[in-house]
Amino acid sequence: MIPFVDLKSQYASIKDEIGVAIQGILDTCQFTLGSEVVAFEKEFAAYCQAEQGIGVNSGTSALHVALLAAGVGPGDEVITVPFTFVATVAAIHYTGATPVLVDIDPRTFTMDPNAIEASITEKTKVILPVHLYGQAADMDPILEIAKRRGLVVIEDAAQAHGAEYKGRRTGSMGDMGCFSFYPGKNLGAYGEGGMVVTSNPDYARTMRMLRDWGAEKKYQHVLKGYNYRLEGIQGAVLRVKLRHLEAWTEGRRTAAAHYDRFLSGSGVATPEAMPYARHVYHIYAIRTRQRQAWMDALQAQGIQSGIHYPIPVHLLPAYADLGYKAGDFPHSEKAADEVLSLPMFPELTASQCETVSNALRKLAGAA
Ligand SMILES: Cc1ncc(COP(=O)(O)O)c(C=O)c1O
Repeated sequence: MIPFVDLKSQYASIKDEIGVAIQGILDTCQFTLGSEVVAFEKEFAAYCQAEQGIGVNSGTSALHVALLAAGVGPGDEVITVPFTFVATVAAIHYTGATPVLVDIDPRTFTMDPNAIEASITEKTKVILPVHLYGQAADMDPILEIAKRRGLVVIEDAAQAHGAEYKGRRTGSMGDMGCFSFYPGKNLGAYGEGGMVVTSNPDYARTMRMLRDWGAEKKYQHVLKGYNYRLEGIQGAVLRVKLRHLEAWTEGRRTAAAHYDRFLSGSGVATPEAMPYARHVYHIYAIRTRQRQAWMDALQAQGIQSGIHYPIPVHLLPAYADLGYKAGDFPHSEKAADEVLSLPMFPELTASQCETVSNALRKLAGAA
């Protein structure tokens, strides 16, 4: 049996450190925010090459407070992609603004910079690229357009902890970068968590208030805020796990290299790592037109797989009111029909990659 992710074996490898970290929170009773969260904010911001980190209770909340800090509200438009997890678009909706979607580059599954300009109107405030699967979007042209048109850039880096674009870490290139620490993410909490990183002190101050009821001092509510605080236990756990993240990322990159090698010449369409990218392989997605048959055949051999994501946001019933229709974003729609995520976690061995690859070679008729 080869699982899709294996959180248990990772926990087993750090059990003692985690025990000490959680006991520390129980001893101090700093259950929400507190010194471990403050320390983790500093360490994770530095890891992302940004000056400040604002810990929140999910990646979705991170996107929400970042959009609010950028001044986004009803009547504004935010440009993003339909080929993402629904949270990206949901967070825009929370602010009352209108999500405006543009298609992806089919090679990278990320925002096609050439599609942006035609979608900019006088209402556009923010461009929100998603570093899907752990590979950075093509940021230079996106940043150039934003600068020229006076727009804010917010990166959805929920899947891209430690990913790089031309040596720059994701989260540090735009005005703000948003991360998720959902348990299955490359850096996962033992519960929910998220963070915005930024080097803009004004945005940072606003977001610190927004996550904690809009107050800088207790009971002095300057803004209409939220209860989006990061828990102390999550901060303590994430501090421990951050110390291992580079080794785990290398484990993912090694596993991806094994897949690339074992699948080469098989006719299986493997993911493309761009020359500008340090891809951190949150997801290793191949493409196939026989997805369900391949998933079933893998499952019959004890190999789990997944689909990220089967329906692009513009075709989800929840967002039908955006007014898009099938055919509007052909690359996103084709990707949603074809992508198949293979088992991927840092501890995945070469022989497990070979087993999965051999099964796929047979399915592709190349074995
Ligand atoms: C691309 C993307 N954006 C946003 C989110 C939202 O993060 P969370 O689940 O922590 O709210 C996720 C993950 O779930 C995601 O994959």
